Amino acid sequence: MNECRHLAIIMDGNGRWAKAKGMPRTAGHLAGADNVRNIGVAASELGIEYLTLYAFSTENWKRAAEEVSYLMKLPRYLFDKYMKEFMSRGMVIKLIGELDGLPEATRQVLLDAAEESKDNTGMKLVIAINYGSHDEILHAVNRYAADVQAGRARPGLDEAGFEQYLMTKDMPPVDLLIRTSGEQRISNFLLWQIAYAELEFVPEAWPDFTPEVLQRCLAEYQKRDRRFGGVKAE
Ligand code: FPP
Repeated sequence: MNECRHLAIIMDGNGRWAKAKGMPRTAGHLAGADNVRNIGVAASELGIEYLTLYAFSTENWKRAAEEVSYLMKLPRYLFDKYMKEFMSRGMVIKLIGELDGLPEATRQVLLDAAEESKDNTGMKLVIAINYGSHDEILHAVNRYAADVQAGRARPGLDEAGFEQYLMTKDMPPVDLLIRTSGEQRISNFLLWQIAYAELEFVPEAWPDFTPEVLQRCLAEYQKRDRRFGGVKAE
């Protein structure tokens, strides 16, 4: 039995999903935000401890200004509509990414949700927003170097010590990473944390990624032989 403590998802394909229906890309993002609720609820009912969702990358600023501005309004939409339910299910909202680079209203909505839910004991719903793995690792290295220089840390960092400088500090490594919509790449997401993750690429666009598709992915994950660099047990 492969335990799945930490599931991470690259929510791709909103734009193509909308286009195929003759709708603007933003309609896909809206449907995508509603699906954050559906998959969040399903994952928490399945006993996942950490669900990390890639909502906006450090590279997504290259998109059209109107699309970026729409995406920045989605946290308010999501939490206005679903925060009560997230609270009643005991979920904890956590955030990774450069929050200081977000519009102030977006940052505040996210911080409020994290603060309101911080004492809950259920699934951690981790929103990766203005997140990029290179950015995270560089920040970690620079903070560590500054700590050494100031005498707060010793030279000679080990893996566990380095992880304390990451935004995912105190989170378990990713067990399963799913990317929707058929693309097979990682796009600067949790590069350190997926070292031994199982990877699944599914054809469904994010708005079509239903709890049934999630169950199918978890069933596939159960079939994987996880060896973490060791040899198969006889
Ligand atoms: C990728 O699809 C999706 C995004 C860049 C945005 C993901 C955001 C959501 C699902 C909304 C969630 C919101 C919150 C607040 C958690 P794409 O637009 O790149 O799709 P495409 O490849 O078909 O163009």
